[in-house]
Amino acid sequence: MKKRIYIKNLKKYIGKEIEIYARINTRRDQGKMIFFDFSDSTGTVQGIVLPKSAAMQDAKKVRENFAVLVKGNINERPENNKNPDVPNGDIELEILKISTINTSETIPFPLEDTSDINENIRLKYRYLDLRSERMKKNVKNRFRVQQFIRNYLADRGFLEIETPLLSAPTPEGARSFVVPSRLDTGKFYALPQSPQQYKQLLMVADFDKYFQFARCFRDEDSRGDRQPEFTQMDLEMSFVSEEDIMRLNEELLITLVKELYPEKKIQEIPFPRMTYNDVMEKYGTDRPDIRKDKSDNDLLAFLWVTDFPMFEKVADDNNFDEAKNWTFTHNPFSKPKDEYITDFVSGENIENILSTQYDIVLNGFEIGGGSIRNHNPDLLRKTFEIMGYDQKRIEENFGHMLEALSFGAPPHGGIAWGFDRLLMILEKEKSIREVIPFAKTGEGKDLMLDAPDRIAEKQLEELMIKLVNE
Ligand code: AMO
Repeated sequence: MKKRIYIKNLKKYIGKEIEIYARINTRRDQGKMIFFDFSDSTGTVQGIVLPKSAAMQDAKKVRENFAVLVKGNINERPENNKNPDVPNGDIELEILKISTINTSETIPFPLEDTSDINENIRLKYRYLDLRSERMKKNVKNRFRVQQFIRNYLADRGFLEIETPLLSAPTPEGARSFVVPSRLDTGKFYALPQSPQQYKQLLMVADFDKYFQFARCFRDEDSRGDRQPEFTQMDLEMSFVSEEDIMRLNEELLITLVKELYPEKKIQEIPFPRMTYNDVMEKYGTDRPDIRKDKSDNDLLAFLWVTDFPMFEKVADDNNFDEAKNWTFTHNPFSKPKDEYITDFVSGENIENILSTQYDIVLNGFEIGGGSIRNHNPDLLRKTFEIMGYDQKRIEENFGHMLEALSFGAPPHGGIAWGFDRLLMILEKEKSIREVIPFAKTGEGKDLMLDAPDRIAEKQLEELMIKLVNE
């Protein structure tokens, strides 16, 4: 196979005859001459069929969005035709031959500017939407940011470790997607809302420094900053304090912005910190947008919020379980702050117990959260007792974690970033759907493949599932 020439490299071929595979973005037939904009995954270039060219006949037949093979000369444009504002603006491709590789229907919306196109149309034809420059940029930058984080953490001794997607249903059950088992009929897996338990178990396994770009699933109402399926940059470390985790993450974020988004400015370094109580008192929300100029989308105002309450009262109408009055605010595995351990152990002053939970907020969005974990099984048991669980229920639901922690678990803690949210802000988009290649609608639908969908009667039978009230 001949080495393929990509459009971004065409400048190297000035004065030479070359061949490129390309898509026709635009075609302007001026009768005697025909102008084209060609693109491939790397860039765009203007093409021209000169009067009386042998390519004229074929060039009259091709249409926009066809996939073509183009043979031609790379010429420097005359001075007055140069456009310094676009890549390849100083060259053009004089077409000698253009052959159709595949024809195309007219596409349902223009790709130059998709900001006013109905989003459901874009999602139904996502593979076309992804051809637009906007989405190309977002998808490429998503990869670049991921790659940067991977290298940064790998250089510091972290391993990326995959954890299962077919996991155990959680006792509360709410908000998790379940998957019926065929081999063990009547039973269900659940898709993880986060790899929380697995990453803690990796600390018990002495991996010490773990991270993962982890797909998470939550069956909650979607909105601009929420998808039923999303990605966390998930991280856990052993023998660390809150300070260690926060410092590492802060340095990573600062370096990432500096290297990949040098046009952006971080409002305050080190990132300011506020306790949950202070932030609620001052702003009435635990994720305030503290930018000095809220219209400046290149300004990044990070804020750590710390010292969240460990427990909150369960609202009555949610109180399915009568015995339960208290629930955890963030994560049952979080450790209370040291100064509250006495209250915690004796089950007193529960409403005042603060946890080691910290959130990171950026421009009004919660982009991450984590804590130091309760690695002592007897203390962890206390959390469930405060929540009103009896010993049997604790064993059933959390016995595996308590047992794992009993084998000399190292103290550990971590964090998870909402990776899509961070990217949305970095790319100045209004919704995380714009930075997720194959996003679902606000109603959680995949309009392209039409999911969720019914399954065949036979498959239901095999799973021993019967639909009532079809
Ligand atoms: P938490 O539930 O706070 O913590 O999730 C961490 C971060 O994930 C993002 N996020 C979402 N992003 C898009 N769509 C969603 N539906 C969605 N839900 C959450 C948020 C949030 O800050 N295991 C713990 C982390 C830990 O303690 O280490 C956890 O999942 O940006």
